[in-house]
Amino acid sequence: MAEVFTTRSVKGTLDLGRKLAERFGVGDCIALHGQLGSGKTVLVRGLAFGLGVTDEHAVSSPTFVLVAEYAGRIPIYHVDLYRLDKAVAELESLGLGEMLQSGLVLIEWAERAADLPRPHWAVTITATGPRSRRFVLERVP
Ligand SMILES: Nc1ncnc2c1ncn2[C@@H]1O[C@H](COP(=O)(O)OP(=O)(O)OP(=O)(O)O)[C@@H](O)[C@H]1O
Ligand SMILES: [Mg+2]
Repeated sequence: MAEVFTTRSVKGTLDLGRKLAERFGVGDCIALHGQLGSGKTVLVRGLAFGLGVTDEHAVSSPTFVLVAEYAGRIPIYHVDLYRLDKAVAELESLGLGEMLQSGLVLIEWAERAADLPRPHWAVTITATGPRSRRFVLERVP
């Protein structure tokens, strides 16, 4: 069953990420869907804060790497497939199996992945105004 959350500011989305972080742990994968600028990276930053990352600059949009790793209470692997030159990414070739064994995997532009692990979580973000965002969280069996 899907859960819906709304935020009205960047801080609201960071707080949502902090709150949701307690639900996730090693072995979980969250696919983040939503257009450019919808707030995927902001949510990742909030999740990372919730998992103990303290460096506010740690989480950004990695320009040259497909996978950034942050050291929280557990390792957080931030995958961003936007800059991928191929149409689809084979996540296994990025080391998905190893990542899931040791940490939490967050994937931006997850629709470009050829093979998402099952089950996984999906968050679909929609901009409903200049500063308002809607988040739909669901378990994908
Ligand atoms: N409620 C909100 N939550 C999150 N971001 C917001 C909100 N309101 C406005 N914003 C703005 O929306 C943008 C979200 O940027 P962010 O980098 O997180 O998007 P993204 O979905 O990761 O985009 P990309 O596909 O380019 O990676 C930022 O400029 C932020 O300031
Ligand atoms: Mg982003």
